[in-house]
Amino acid sequence: MIDKCIASPPGPAKVVVLGTGGTIAGRAAVQGDNLGYRAGEVGVDELLAGIEVPGVALQAEQVANIDSKDMDAGVWRALALRCAHWLAQDVAGIVVTHGTDTLEETAFFLHSVLAPRRPLVLTCAMRPATSLAPDGPQNLRDAIGVAATPGAAGVLAVCAGTIHGAQAVQKVHPYRLDAFSSGDLGPLGVIEEGRVTLAQGWPASPPAAPALLQRIAEQAPWPRVEIVLSHAGAGGRLVDALLRERAQDPAVGVQGLVLAGTGNATLHRDLESAAQRAQAAGVTVVRTTRCPFGRVLASGAEALPEAVDLPPVKARIALMLSLMQAG
Ligand code: SIN
Repeated sequence: MIDKCIASPPGPAKVVVLGTGGTIAGRAAVQGDNLGYRAGEVGVDELLAGIEVPGVALQAEQVANIDSKDMDAGVWRALALRCAHWLAQDVAGIVVTHGTDTLEETAFFLHSVLAPRRPLVLTCAMRPATSLAPDGPQNLRDAIGVAATPGAAGVLAVCAGTIHGAQAVQKVHPYRLDAFSSGDLGPLGVIEEGRVTLAQGWPASPPAAPALLQRIAEQAPWPRVEIVLSHAGAGGRLVDALLRERAQDPAVGVQGLVLAGTGNATLHRDLESAAQRAQAAGVTVVRTTRCPFGRVLASGAEALPEAVDLPPVKARIALMLSLMQAG
């Protein structure tokens, strides 16, 4: 239940907007075409044209301009470093414009690496900038409002007037404007006409990890972690193929494996056997659930450890970062 109200920011505040692309920066050849467009076409300066938030001074920077399905280590590295730079300056908060498709992954990555005490707000759109009724401008305005809200903290996602935390946010719909969910716990709050109302506190950030940021900046390539799905008829051949590749060329071979299990992270017996072979070969293996809601409840009796609280794509990032820290 929503029980806490935050007033709009009283004075001027600097918010830096970092552009990375996405549908929010998408352009269609035919105005109003909401499907046949190219993401990552419009620059962040153009996105901000005409957007004014009372009491907020804006500064924009283009970090990338891509369709977020193509997100990679290079863009994440550049983005993390620019965010770290701005978080060390006198800014109220940061906004990142991003595609919806991997927004939850970038949010979780930045949350894990930067652990910001100030707001770092990702926003997006489901309709391109050339739509007859684009949702991007309102989402961007809302994200800036959240980033400038006194007391706001952590990596957040703002879409369709709803504020989510990086840990829980997931894209759950391929078309609806309100495409994100925070699952069982619900969103952190809402923003309506610039006014933030919280249902929960701002999310706690993990401990700051400056050494990890250093690794992110310097290490290449990052540890390779793959996701394998368990399903009816699943076998161990994908895992065995990864093991063969690793044996042939350890430098590019898989180092970690996330198994997206059924239900409470259970695995098809053939996949489980292959995963145990992988573990014996030195690959770090974790299990999680392919269910979109809830979390894995550890039984303690399983041979392969579970990533209790994370969906597969976030478990992949957590494992990659932990391999990086251990390496
Ligand atoms: C993307 O993720 O870059 C394209 C899709 C979207 O932003 O909705």
